[in-house]
Amino acid sequence: MTSLAGKRIVLGVSGGIAAYKAVEICRRLMEAGAHVIPVLTNGATRFVGRTTFDALASERVQMSLFDEDDPIPHTTLGQTADCVLVAPATARVIGAYAAGISSDLLTATLIATRAPVVVCPAMHTEMWEHPAVAHNIATLVERGVHIVGPESGRLAGGDEGAGRLSSPADILSAVSRVLDVGEKRSDMAGLSVVVTAGGTREPIDPVRYIGNHSSGKQGYAFAEEAAGRGASVTIVTTVDRPSSLGASVAPGVTGMPGITEVRVDTAEEMATATAEAAKEADVVIMAAAVADFRPVDPAGVKLKKRDGVPVIELEPTPDILASLGASKPEGQILIGFAAETCDVADNAAAKLNGKGADYIVANDVTAENAGFAHDTNEVLVLASDGRAHSVGLRSKRQVAQAVLDLVVADRDGRANVR
Ligand code: CTP
Repeated sequence: MTSLAGKRIVLGVSGGIAAYKAVEICRRLMEAGAHVIPVLTNGATRFVGRTTFDALASERVQMSLFDEDDPIPHTTLGQTADCVLVAPATARVIGAYAAGISSDLLTATLIATRAPVVVCPAMHTEMWEHPAVAHNIATLVERGVHIVGPESGRLAGGDEGAGRLSSPADILSAVSRVLDVGEKRSDMAGLSVVVTAGGTREPIDPVRYIGNHSSGKQGYAFAEEAAGRGASVTIVTTVDRPSSLGASVAPGVTGMPGITEVRVDTAEEMATATAEAAKEADVVIMAAAVADFRPVDPAGVKLKKRDGVPVIELEPTPDILASLGASKPEGQILIGFAAETCDVADNAAAKLNGKGADYIVANDVTAENAGFAHDTNEVLVLASDGRAHSVGLRSKRQVAQAVLDLVVADRDGRANVR
C-alpha cells in the first residue's frame, strides 16, 4: 500500500461526538509522515478544541472561508491536497457535499477539490438510516467518493447500532488504499470484467437449501481491485458486499463506482447471468463457490418432520467455468478457482486442464487464515502455459491485485506478440 509519507492530507472535522477521535487520526497521520492540514467546522469546535489540532498537525487549523492571508483558502486547500479526508462526517456535511452547497470552508474545499475524497460518516443510527442520508451517500459513491464506515456498536447516549466512526486504523488504511489506487496506472481502463462471488443456494423446499461457507469476500475484492484500475465490472453475486472490505455503502450501492451487481441464488441463475455478461468480457473471474449438486425436485411446501426423514435425490448443476471455457471468445482471459482441502497443486492442475481456464487460483481452505470467510488468503496461481506463482498470506484485496497483475502482463504480452 502507498506510504502516507509526504502526502498532503486535508483533515476535515465536523461537529459530532466522534470529533474527539479525529485527534487520534491526526496524530497517526502525522506519525505516518503525512502533511496534515486540519479544517474544522464551527460545530467541531464544540466537541474538540482547535488548539489540540494546532499542536499536533503540520499546519494550524483553518476554519474560515475569509482568511486574512489567503483570499481563496478553499481553492488553495483543494488544489494542493493529495487527499481530503472527512472524519467524522456529519449528516449535514454529507448533505451539503452531495447537494453542492458550500456553507463553510470544509464543504467549499470538498467541492473545490479534484483530489480523492474519503468520507467517514458518524451519526446516530436513525440519522444514518434516514432515506435522505442514504440517498446522499449513494450520490457521493456514484461520484467516486470513498465512504468508510460507519461501524455498528455503542453510540453516544448509550444506544447501540450503526453509526460509529470507523477505527483510526481502518480510516488510515482506507486513505492509503485510495492514494494507492490514485497512483496506480489505470492499467485495466477500457476492459470489461465479469466476477462471480458467494456460494450458490440450491432449494430443498421453500425454507431450506444446499449451500456452502463462501462469504463472497474474495470475489468482491477482485471486483473492487479491477474497478479501481479502471475496468468496468459486472459482479454476479449471491451475497451483499461484505462490510469487512472497508468502505461501507448505502443499501444497494457497491463500495466503488464502475461495478454493476447482478443478484442470483442458484447455480442455474448464476450460469445464465454469467454466460450473458461474459459474451463481451475481456476477463472472467469465477470466484464463486458453485454447488455441484442440487435437489432434482425441490418441494413446493415445507417438508414436515412428521412425514419422516426425507430422501433427497440430487442431480449435477451446470459447470459454469467448464462451459465458459468451452465457448471462450478469442482473447478472453478466464480465471477459475480451486477450493481444496488436500493435494492443492495436483487438483488445481486437473481443473486448469479440465475446464479450459487460462488460470486457476487454488487455495487450501483448511489453511489458517485463508479461504472461506477470512479477510486474508494464500493462493497458488497456475497458468495454462505451465507457470506457477505462489501468493503468500495477505489481504484478499492484495491477492486480487497480484492475480490481476499477472492478467495485465499476460494481455500486454499477447498484444506485443500480435
Ligand atoms: N465451478 C463452476 N460451476 C460448478 C462448480 C464449480 O463454475 N458447478 C467453478 C468454480 O467457480 C471454480 C471452479 O469451478 O472457479 C472450481 O470449483 P471447485 O468447487 O473447486 O471444483 P469443482 O469443479 O466443483 O470440483 P470438485 O468439487 O470435485 O473439487
